[in-house]
Amino acid sequence: MAAKPKKAPVDVEKLTKAQAKVELMRLALEIEEHNNRYYQDDAPKISDAAYDALRQRSNAVEARFPELVTKESPSQKVGAAPSGRFAKVQHAIPMLSLGNAFTDQDVVDFVERVQRFLKLGADEIPTIVAEPKIDGLSLSLRYENGELVRGATRGDGTTGEDVTANVRTLSDIPHKLKGRNVPAVCEVRGEVYMLKSDFLALNKRQAEAEDTIFANPRNSAAGSLRQKDPSITASRPLKFFAYAWGEMSAMPAPTQFEMIEWIDKAGFVTNPLTTRCKNVEAILKFYREIETKRATLGYDIDGVVYKVDRLDWQQRLGFVSRNPRWAIAHKFAAEQATTVLNDIEIQVGRTGALTPVAKLAPVTVGGVVVQNATLHNEDYIKAIGNDGQPIRDGVDIRIGDTVVVQRAGDVIPQIVSVVLDKRPRNAKPYEFPHRCPACGSHAVREADPKTGREDSVRRCTNTLACPAQAKERLKHFVARNAFDIDGLGDKQIEEFFTDGLVMSPVDIFTLEKRDARATKKLADREGYGATSVRNLFAAIEARRKIALARFIFALGIRHVGEGNAKLLARHYGAVENFRAAMIAAGEGPLAEAYLDLNSIEGIGAVVANAIVEFFAEPHSVKAVDDLLDEIEVQPAEKAKADSPIAGKTVVFTGSLEKFTRDEAKATAERLGAKAAGSVSKKTDYVVAGPGAGSKLAEAQKLGVQVLTEDEWLALVNGL
Ligand code: IVH
Repeated sequence: MAAKPKKAPVDVEKLTKAQAKVELMRLALEIEEHNNRYYQDDAPKISDAAYDALRQRSNAVEARFPELVTKESPSQKVGAAPSGRFAKVQHAIPMLSLGNAFTDQDVVDFVERVQRFLKLGADEIPTIVAEPKIDGLSLSLRYENGELVRGATRGDGTTGEDVTANVRTLSDIPHKLKGRNVPAVCEVRGEVYMLKSDFLALNKRQAEAEDTIFANPRNSAAGSLRQKDPSITASRPLKFFAYAWGEMSAMPAPTQFEMIEWIDKAGFVTNPLTTRCKNVEAILKFYREIETKRATLGYDIDGVVYKVDRLDWQQRLGFVSRNPRWAIAHKFAAEQATTVLNDIEIQVGRTGALTPVAKLAPVTVGGVVVQNATLHNEDYIKAIGNDGQPIRDGVDIRIGDTVVVQRAGDVIPQIVSVVLDKRPRNAKPYEFPHRCPACGSHAVREADPKTGREDSVRRCTNTLACPAQAKERLKHFVARNAFDIDGLGDKQIEEFFTDGLVMSPVDIFTLEKRDARATKKLADREGYGATSVRNLFAAIEARRKIALARFIFALGIRHVGEGNAKLLARHYGAVENFRAAMIAAGEGPLAEAYLDLNSIEGIGAVVANAIVEFFAEPHSVKAVDDLLDEIEVQPAEKAKADSPIAGKTVVFTGSLEKFTRDEAKATAERLGAKAAGSVSKKTDYVVAGPGAGSKLAEAQKLGVQVLTEDEWLALVNGL
């Protein structure tokens, strides 16, 4: 059947105001959907040209009806919405891939192939450089006269994406090459990656902010590098290993190994495990050493790469299709194993989310015994993905199933597939509980405030009295980024909560007083002694004074992660102001306090509503007040009212090179200025970095003062 022809859109010039309003909303939704497909899923549905046309139409409608421009408009969004996508970059020398070896024999064959091709004698064995194969994404960095001029992703190998502004934020990447005799053109290539520990910490922060969770360090590195807003990349802990090169106007060394030494001296980080091997035995020994070290390296690798050392030989060997004849990747066995799913346990989180966890018959995956695996949510068990599309070919997961388990990116075990042939006859589809296993209250799937779709997460509705939520909130309260009390971690909270010693945050601060009167003392508990109890009380004492941002974060309000807590602290200054304003904001969406909360740059309606909801609950306010009777919350650094930019509105645009966008905004706010996302008549300054586009043009049109990064720095220097 032929596709239904689409109605031609009404000419912008002919739209009535009412039509324009609807059209802008439609365009905003469509643009948002394509942004998500492109940035989050890496799977665009339309061409770049079609995408640009949507944005142009939206801009044209807004130009006719400027009064219809809202904060939600694609033209106003800071960061997420691009003014065009990444520019394309032609690689001067293609970025190729490597052939694979899986067995020792494949490696023997590789070395023999090299010998045959070069017509070497049987005892003339080529020296091979061996190094770990980093599981990240490859990047090419071009330096002209020693200066970094471009960073590009691999793309399809011939054409990559220009990510220059983003790569400049990586501390492993020099902006200027060191040493004398640097060739006029140098392209250094390597892998962008994320440490496993950094990946886990980032995911934790993302979860707290209810933001995208990455499946593994590789995805997380890729997602972080390919951000349209370089300040987001800057806030992500990305690292870089240099291991190859592209165009070079002169070669500084005659061998692979010496080239890597040169690259290292030029200011890059190269992999310290890189080793010269004299024969196949040495190569295979290296492979096994790396395989045993793999789990302790701190970053993911998926094999070892072998490269012929002599560059003149690399030259002669050349390429077969897209792989060099002079190099090969020796892959590690996939970290997968098959086991039986014995049960599905439901855990209840701090915000009431019911998370299913697979209880597996213990199995070794890549050298580690796995007994639990994440099942994410109800839909995941039913084989429905985030986008509503089937996953695992639509095969659901049932208790009793034989499943294939994988350690994703070496860290979190996941179930990748179900072995249907082995499904027990009586296995029934899993029925996700509709009641909270901890308190028996209804557990519901709300509408996601961002998308309007049914949320994939089912939540216990008994926010206040559910013991599981209360316990998780306490764990959050004492966590490292919150009250950070030495000697009071998850384990102690579990015990104290179960025994009724600590049921709400204030109980932590009355523990010592109550213990003095108690018949069964803490010091008599198993695993405790006089010293550990004294230390614990001292640690609690030390936290009676706490910074406002930490305090707000510790409350565990939904959507209020560390970043939002800082914004709130800086805006309200003192805890009394914050408390009073949040209660006042509950009077309604038109209340001045609510509008003020919503006006904070970075705090949107979803976050604002979550805070208001928290303070609308007398029980929460009482918990806060009880706590405030025991502790002293220190005011946040107030914005300086006497600075020359106090009360001014500043817009930062372009790819900032001298500071990150977050830094700049923080400075502006500290000095009492407002950092805004869009240029209007009310804007006092526009600070424009390289590549500034529409906002700069707008500023010039409106006669707003434009500053370079240096001028901005001069203005705020020393304040
Ligand atoms: S050399 C001409 N060395 O593996 C080949 N690649 O399958 C140049 N990779 O796209 C690549 N670690 O992203 C090389 N030590 C290493 C590597 C490495 C990871 C990646 C790289 C490349 C892919 C090839």
